[in-house]
Amino acid sequence: MSGPTRRDVLAGAVGLAAAPLCAMAAGPVALRAAPMPVRLLPGRAPATDLWTYDGLVPGPEIRLPRGGGLARRFVNDLPQGSSVHWHGIRLPNAMDGVAGLTQPAVEAGAAFDYAFTVPDAGTYWYHPHNRTFEQMARGLYGPLIVEEPDPPEVDAELVLVLDDWRIDRDGALAGNFGDLHDMSHAGRIGNWVTVNGISELKTPAGSNARLRLRLINAANARIFRLGLKGLTGWIMALDGMPLAAPQAADRVVLAPAQRADLIVDVVGPDEGVVYSIERDGGYALASFPVAGTRRPARLAAPRPLPPNDVAVPGPLAAARVIEMPIAGGAMGRMRSARLDGRLVAMRELVDAGMVWAMAGTAGMPEAPLATLVRGETVRIVMANDTVWPHAMHLHGHHFREVRPAEALGPLRDTLLVNPEERREIIFVADNPGDWLLHCHMLEHAASGMMTWLRVS
Ligand code: C2O
Ligand code: CU
Repeated sequence: MSGPTRRDVLAGAVGLAAAPLCAMAAGPVALRAAPMPVRLLPGRAPATDLWTYDGLVPGPEIRLPRGGGLARRFVNDLPQGSSVHWHGIRLPNAMDGVAGLTQPAVEAGAAFDYAFTVPDAGTYWYHPHNRTFEQMARGLYGPLIVEEPDPPEVDAELVLVLDDWRIDRDGALAGNFGDLHDMSHAGRIGNWVTVNGISELKTPAGSNARLRLRLINAANARIFRLGLKGLTGWIMALDGMPLAAPQAADRVVLAPAQRADLIVDVVGPDEGVVYSIERDGGYALASFPVAGTRRPARLAAPRPLPPNDVAVPGPLAAARVIEMPIAGGAMGRMRSARLDGRLVAMRELVDAGMVWAMAGTAGMPEAPLATLVRGETVRIVMANDTVWPHAMHLHGHHFREVRPAEALGPLRDTLLVNPEERREIIFVADNPGDWLLHCHMLEHAASGMMTWLRVS
């Protein structure tokens, strides 16, 4: 682990103080994590004590052009160590923000400078990568938008960050983060759903208006199943990466950490709605009351977004295959797994707070799941031998799913693998460094579903 230490950061700060004033003014912009009361519940309910970036939930939108440079001085005013992970960005390993793998946790009261360029246009986001199950549940996450050089014609663009909270009537968060029941079941599912921190986003729109919606699922564990009403829509991009052809859709499923870029036309005489499809009936998350006419007629169907430059995998048959069975959880068949290098029975695993295993190992192994040669094409077979869905996320790379008849799915960084499914991904390991592969249901990750790959 060779990330900068607090000493380096402090040394950097001393250097900065010695620089001329104008250079100081142009120094890195701060991104400050700190506790803050935020009003989540409507009416007279008290505010909720959350952890925020720059006092906001979601954190401030960071927006820059493709190829642009992102520089932030992360200042940690939380009561515990933290870090910032730039989810989905194919960046240099040292900037990936994984505490314990790519850098030490940034201690309470310390700072860390992140700086890198963003190679791909699309919808990304940032969040902590230390005690993530607690820090994200307390409100730490924000959107990171990378614009294409020639964006599609729309009348408005909205970023919709979805989350759920486990909260009581007095606005207090349930404090049992990393609860064993949550870890071994579906994760921390909340009882209060928000979009950009409020329960329903209302945005008036003229009829025939065309909107671009950038959806981000920032929940710890909830899978959002969304529908469109009074809107005609296309999925333009998934996890930041454009689809080769826009896909007409009136539904989209977002597992934790997944994103979707939609283009929607407001077609109804009544309001258009993005709603959540739930067992107990849908509820509106974002609605667009029709006010007047934006255009006399609808625009033509959208053209695809310009592709990002992601390496094309080599021939399937020649690719290296890594088997990664997933086991454990409540009602599972797992009897034992490796933990800290030795084989341990389920009872002892549970005592250690470990209830899942990937490729036979519970929690972060000392050695990587595999050491890959830079540029090699890799297939990872994920056999979900559990009765729970998992949102499998790979750092530093986008992959494609290998589907039946060897068809390749769209580029993604997070794949929802449903119970008892066997799903396979393929990618070119072209980004050197140590990269996590984990479940983005954060309680699952904290209780075993975390491994890593080394690209050398
Ligand atoms: Cu959203 Cu390991 O990350
Ligand atoms: Cu999982």
